Order: sequence, then structure tokens, then C-alpha cells
Amino acid sequence: MSLISEIDYGTPASQADKTVTVTIDGFAVTVPEGTSIMRAAMEAGIQVPKLCATDSIEAFGSCRLCLVEIEGRAGTPASCTTPVGNGMVVKTQTGKLKKLRRDVMELYISDHPLDCLTCAANGDCELQDMAGAVGLREVRYGQEGANHFDAVKDQSNPYFTFDPAKCIVCSRCVRACEEVQGTFALTIDGRGFASHVAAGMDEPFLASECVSCGACVQACPTATLIEKSVIEIGQPEHSVVTTCAYCGVGCSFKAEMRGEEVVRMVPYKDGKANHGHSCVKGRFAWGYTNHRDRILKPMIRERIGDPWREVSWDEALGRVASEFKRIQAQRGRNSIGAITSSRCTNEETYLVQKLVRAVFGNNNTDTCARVCHSPTGYGLSKTFGTSAGTQDFDSVSEAAVILVIGAHPTDGHPVFASRMKKRLLEGAKLIVIDPRRTDLVRSAHIEAAYHLPLLPGTNVAMMNALAHTIVTEGLVNEKFVREQCDGEAFADWAAFVARPENSPEAAAHFTGVPAETIRAAARLYATGGNAAIYYGLGVTEHSQGTTTVMAIANLAMATGNIGREGVGVNPLRGQNNVQGACDMGSFPHELPGYRHISDDIVRGLFEKDWGVHLDAEPGLRIPNMFDAAMDGSFQGLYVQGEDIVQSDPDSKHVIAGLKAMECIVVQDLFLNETSNYAHVFLPGSTFLEKDGTFTNAERRINRVRKVMSPKAGMADWEITQAIAKAMGVNMHYTHPSEIMAEIARLTPSFAGVTYDKLDALGSVQWPCNDAAPEGTPTMHIGEFVRGKGNFLITEFVPTDERTGPRFPLLLTTGRILSQYNVGAQTRRTDNATWHGEDLLEIHPHDAEERGLHDGALVRLESRSGATSLRARITDRVAPGVVYTTFHHPDTQANVVTSDYSDWATNCPEYKVTAVQVAPSNGPTAWQDEYQSHSRESRRIARAVPLPAAE
Ligand code: SF4
Ligand code: SF4
Ligand code: SF4
Ligand code: FES
Repeated sequence: MSLISEIDYGTPASQADKTVTVTIDGFAVTVPEGTSIMRAAMEAGIQVPKLCATDSIEAFGSCRLCLVEIEGRAGTPASCTTPVGNGMVVKTQTGKLKKLRRDVMELYISDHPLDCLTCAANGDCELQDMAGAVGLREVRYGQEGANHFDAVKDQSNPYFTFDPAKCIVCSRCVRACEEVQGTFALTIDGRGFASHVAAGMDEPFLASECVSCGACVQACPTATLIEKSVIEIGQPEHSVVTTCAYCGVGCSFKAEMRGEEVVRMVPYKDGKANHGHSCVKGRFAWGYTNHRDRILKPMIRERIGDPWREVSWDEALGRVASEFKRIQAQRGRNSIGAITSSRCTNEETYLVQKLVRAVFGNNNTDTCARVCHSPTGYGLSKTFGTSAGTQDFDSVSEAAVILVIGAHPTDGHPVFASRMKKRLLEGAKLIVIDPRRTDLVRSAHIEAAYHLPLLPGTNVAMMNALAHTIVTEGLVNEKFVREQCDGEAFADWAAFVARPENSPEAAAHFTGVPAETIRAAARLYATGGNAAIYYGLGVTEHSQGTTTVMAIANLAMATGNIGREGVGVNPLRGQNNVQGACDMGSFPHELPGYRHISDDIVRGLFEKDWGVHLDAEPGLRIPNMFDAAMDGSFQGLYVQGEDIVQSDPDSKHVIAGLKAMECIVVQDLFLNETSNYAHVFLPGSTFLEKDGTFTNAERRINRVRKVMSPKAGMADWEITQAIAKAMGVNMHYTHPSEIMAEIARLTPSFAGVTYDKLDALGSVQWPCNDAAPEGTPTMHIGEFVRGKGNFLITEFVPTDERTGPRFPLLLTTGRILSQYNVGAQTRRTDNATWHGEDLLEIHPHDAEERGLHDGALVRLESRSGATSLRARITDRVAPGVVYTTFHHPDTQANVVTSDYSDWATNCPEYKVTAVQVAPSNGPTAWQDEYQSHSRESRRIARAVPLPAAE
């Protein structure tokens, strides 16, 4: 194995269709018009020396190292900023050029420390490389003149350092922050000799607007900006391409290694979801893999509350099998089940549902997607015919209008947010529908055309009002509707949305948004050109989550914004593999590929392949499992990679259900809140320790590749297979590629997927089959998957969760950039620097009424429960609305959320809870109990004393 080196072409690729041919150093090369001479030379295999250019950002032309001579033209233009012309004859290496380049390098080196041997970038420094490339042998001016050697290093960021003594002021970092990340945190301050890179207001990186994405570090050609892990460990010696295990963007990375130690994660330029960019989580927050809290030995105990006992794999698996068999013998086949994880691979998820159906003999399998995007699957399948988004991420580059509803991509899907911002900077118009004034509404160089700050729980009223405007003002794309949609369904829908109760004026009453603003936003969406909708959990996690998804689909169909680049309906999936977990048949009523379990033909296929009889009755959903546990009919649960106590609503009900069960098996990296109620703990593996695939929000199937051995000895798929074996069924897989072969054999949309193809193409988007052997970036082109697009009636039914004198405020929840989900991984990294606790955002007016100051400890109480946390006073939330995140178990916002859920899918209504906020004297009783319980259970598990700080 060796390091994967990617070619740096110096400048971005031209998108022009027309080509031109030039001759460079005697070689003819044909490139798209607008290509720089530097890039054209690289395409011909000729490397022009460079320092200030790199192909992820536009050329700037400041270092003057890349000079060339062009026949018939005077002077020595910079090859990075000079586009090729047809018939141009270029020389990159002449006596004159060589001298000029050496002179330039001499000036750089005269103000650069000569500590190459001890420099962390030694061997990976472009300045060092260029000194060699231009043949620099002496520095005539010496290093005695004015210099920057004493400049003070900024070590404030937990993951990288900034050493201005080594800076050549090439501004690659500044441009990367602007063009790649879209944050504008850096500038070149001062002039001439005094010019220097400044973060924010010339402050430490950590205090500035920097979001720690690392794009500047990646762009820096010297050791000025460099990862602390490289300083500590040294240069990597081999790399493996794999996929981030955090969010649904699914960024590809090169894991750069020394032996089995990760040195750094470098976003992979060929990654089709991220094109070489990343966020702070994927690039830096991988240290949890080696965290001392990892449980690496299987453990069992007789009763919850007993100390855990470390045992062999055989004993643990034997316990699982004997308990599950005993429970089934006593209480029937349907008395056990499993919960799959959107953090695990497709192959692992597939195997868990196969274990349930083929070994347990029932369909009691559900997934955490139940609590996030199940309404997406249901709503889009009923309208379009598939349970997934319609576009790839690149599609946003063709959008003229971008409508973001119930999503905060800069925090939740940061790499996609950067792409979106790039498009907005190019002139696309933005509509944001969100109770909060999110970053997208107004940030550096970006301003939404319309922000519709609706009250939580009123999405359907808003979508109907947008549709009302489009229908009643004659803005429907009649040709599209006539040709591609069900005419009768459209007519019914059009008559429905045209009713007065669906007008913007009526919606203003529910949403709190002025009717004229709603009308203006609708007109922009319908008439502004290609219009794309992006949405998140702010749409789905409602009692009418499915209705809103359907309303979104209706709106896109009515305006013809489906079936080409730049448009579409795009759910921003939360977890890395939530799309895959749904695709793989994790739901109790569906086999892989969203086919109903009651379908005899489909079930027959699986029965034949697996050699078993399958139950035709749908199994239990997660909330029903807890209900059944309480009545004694469901007593055994296998939970792979989920912390349902933290992530599911109404924690009290979840805990009561768990306490009522006789055998709970938790498979995870760390002891989590659910494991407090478990009888068997099986140590899981991180994404770095196994092979497999994840499917991201664009339906893109990406390879996950093992870079180190599983620390506990088994990858998650091997554990599931071992449970099956212990229960008497041999599955015989020797590698996840064999599981994928089975998935492809049994699932039409995956029919063409193989590991060989993924290795060759990098990734594919399903459907990938004979009709689309290389996958499907855009769906529903010319025709919907279901045939005709289906308009559905979306009546607004206000949630039963109402405010009143006791609970006058509405709580809504979300994420923050540096943390992920319940924080099990990110809290165990230096990302805790940015978000050490969950905070409650409250409007100044509401805070004043309650006598609260910024940072005050407050009691947040609802009809379901109470918790204490600190207040942040901000006008990002409207009066009457409060907001918090759910990353910290000692806050557990879900103690407060209600048990209302989506009418179609049971997706919980996390986004609307009536609450009261009051000053607090300290943690609630359960928080005190949690602290001691958590410390004790971890101490018992590891039998080592915890440091005082924990
Ligand atoms: S880490 Fe990212 S946000 Fe921070 S300065 Fe660098 S490019 Fe900008
Ligand atoms: S920090 Fe690096 S990228 Fe930025 S100006 Fe200095 S040398 Fe160039
Ligand atoms: S967390 Fe999401 S956006 Fe960030 S690197 Fe990972 S996949 Fe990409
Ligand atoms: S690389 Fe062209 S001027 Fe710096």
C-alpha cells in the first residue's frame, strides 16, 4: 500500500463544451475553452512550477512562479491566470523563465525558516518541492534582512496550528475559505512586508468565525496551516479511500495512515458527494475510535443494576441465543425483534433484518429512520413512486431558486451547504422557511430573498398557501402537469388548494407570516427558473410530517420542477446511512427495496434465496415494541448501533418498555443510555474497522473500507452472523461483498451494484441496474417511477400539542455543526471545544418576562417532563419559540418532547412541544440520578477509576 496522490491541475476545470488545441513544449493538447495554460500543461503531463495556485480555487496570479512564454506575445504571463487560445504555442522551460523563477524562490526563502528537517511538513511541502523544481542552490540575500521568523504561532484551534513565520502569503487559505467553504473567515491584512493572514478581526482562529472545516489547511502549500495530528505523529505512509460515518452528505476521504494509526483524514477530490471538501466532523472528529471509553470485550449480567461481567465472545453469543430462544419458546415467535442502525453499513443493516425475518421468524425489525425520515419514504413513494430524493448534490449548481424548509444545512449538512452557498454567490435566489433565523437567512455575502419564520407545526398550512398562490395566480406548469401527472388527481388537488381556507391570508393566521410574503415567495418559486426544494427533519418530525412531504412533492409537480438538473425534491438525510437503512428493508412491513412483506411474489423470492418460510404479517414498529413489552408479549430486543433512550421521544415510556423486557442486547462502541437497561453488551466496530457501503442522501452508494482491524475482534456484520449461528442458522458470508451480491440479487434497484463496480466508478446512485448500469443521478426524467405523478390532498390539521397558560412557548429542536446526533462520538473528540453543553435559545422578550439573563440555568418543562440547561438569549428565534439541540445525555431534550407522532409513519413530533421556561436552581432529579448512574455504570464496566473531570 502507498499514499494515494491526487494530481493538482493548478486551476479548476473549465465547463465549456467547445475545445481548443494548443502546443505546450512541443506537445499538442486539446482542452475545453477557458482552461488555463497551467491546467492544459498538466493535462499533457507537464508540471509548471506554482505556489499560489491549486485546482480547488480560482487562480490569483500572485506568486509569479508559473511564468511561461507564448510565441508571438511579449512578456512572461502567469500560466495560472492565462487561458489557452486555439493554436497557441507555449514554452514552460526557457533560460529566461528558469532565472525568473529562481529569483522568485530566492525572495521567498530569504524570509522562510530553514528548519526543513524538523518541520512537520517535511516531505509534504510545496515550497520545498518548488525550491527543488526550480533548481534553487543559493539565497544571495541570506536570511539576515527583515523577516517574520518571530511571528507567534496560533495554536488555539484544537485540530490545526497556524504558524505565520512559515507563511508565504499566497492567499490560498483565504480563497479556500471563501470559495470552497463559503465562510469568509480569513483575509490578507496589511500591505507589503506587513501583509499577513488574519482570521476574523485578526484574532485567534478559535475566536473567529472559522468553522474548522480545514479547507485552508488542505490548501496551504507550506507548514503554516497544518494538522496537529501530523505534527504529533509524522507524515503518513499509506492511504485508503473510505466514507465519512457522520451525516447524510457521505463525504469521501483518504484515511492517511501510519500502520494502523490514522494520521489525518483528507477529503478525496474524486469523491462525488464532496469533491474534496469536508466539515470539522469528518476531517477531524475521528479520535473517538481510540477513546478509552470504547468497550472492547463482550459483557453480560443477569439483571440490570448488576455489575457487568466481561466474558468471551462465545459465552456472550451463547447467552443471546439461549435467552432469545427461551423467550420465543415461552411467549411465542413474535416476542423478540431488532432495531437496525443508520450508522451501520448497508450490509450490516441488511443482515440484521435478515436475522429477524429468517432466524427469529417474524418481521419485528425497525430502524431509527422511524424517528427521522420515515415520512419522506412514505410521502415520496405515494406521489413520485420512490422513497428517495430526486437529484444529486451537483444539481444545485443548476438551480436558480433554492427553497430550504425545515433544514439548517450549514450545521446539519455542511459540505452540501458550501455547495449551495457557492450557487447563491453566483446569483441563485433563496427562500428559507424556518422558525429560526438560520445562518442561511443572512451570512457573509448571502441574504435570503425571503425568510418565512413560521410557527412550529404549521408547515402544511404554509405549503398549501404557496400552492394556493400558484394555482390561483395561473402559475401552474400546465404542460408538465398534462404530460406527466395524473390529470384527475391534479384537478382535485387544484380545487382543494384554491379554497379560501388554504389562502396565504388564512395561513398567516396559523403561521404568523404575512400573506404578502407568502405570495411573493410562491411567485419566486414558480417563476424564477429552475427551482429546487431541500428539506430536513423540520419537515418530517411532525404529526403531519408525511403530509408536508406530500405537499412539497405537489408543489414541485405543479411547477414542473422535477426530472432535470437544478430542480427536484431533496430530503437532507440526517445520519450517514439513513437512506441505506431504509433501502435495506429495516421496516417491519417492507423487504429490501421497499416491497411489502405481504406481496407473495416478492416474499417468495426471498424465501427461495434464504431457504426459509417468511411471515407475511408486518411486525412491530419501535413504539409498538415498547407497548408490547409493557403487556408482556415482547421480551427480547437486539439493538445494533442505536441509543434509543436518547434518540426516541418520550424517554420515560422508552425506559419503561426497556425495563419490562427480559433480554436486551446492545451492540455499540460505548456504553450508552440504552445499555443501562441491557443484559448483554456486544462491542461494535467503527467505520474505520470494517468494509461495506453507505448510501447517502443522493442515493449514492459509497464504499467504506477497512483501515484497521476491528478493535474488539469482530466487525458488526460478523457479530450479527455469529448470533444467527448461535441460534442454529449458518449464513456463511466471508466478506461484505458477498452480502452485497445477495442484496443485488434480490433488490431490483441494486441489481447492478458490485464492489468491483464501486471500485471502478467510485460510487453509483441507485437505481443501478440493466437500464442504468452506472446509476441514476436524476430521477423521474420524462416519466415518474410510478407512471403519472400523483397529487395528494394535504389538509392542514393543527397538532394536538397546543400552547396554553401553563405551557405558553413552543420548543423546537435541531443540531449544531460540531456535534452529531446524541453526541456519542463527537463528545469524545475535541469537538467538545465548541459545544460543551446543550443551550436553550430564547428571545430577549421572553427572557425578560421571565427574569432570565444570558447563561442562566433554566428549567424547561412540558407536559411530558422537565430538564435544566443554560439559556442563550438571541433573536434568532421569534418571540414565543425556544430552541435547543439534543447532543448531550445530561440534558436529554427528549425527556420533554411529547409522544405525538406522524399519522402515517409514527415519526415522532420532535419539532413541536409546548413548554414553559423558568429560572432553575439546579439539575432536575433525573439529571442528578443520570450523573451518578452513568458514572457508576461506566466504572463497573471498565473496573477502572474515572478521573475527577468526568
Ligand atoms: S478552517 Fe475552514 S472556516 Fe476556518 S478559516 Fe479555514 S477554511 Fe475558513
Ligand atoms: S497560511 Fe498557507 S495558504 Fe495561507 S497564505 Fe500562508 S502559506 Fe498561503
Ligand atoms: S459530517 Fe457530513 S458534511 Fe461533514 S465530512 Fe462527514 S459526511 Fe461530510
Ligand atoms: S501559481 Fe501562477 S502566479 Fe502563482
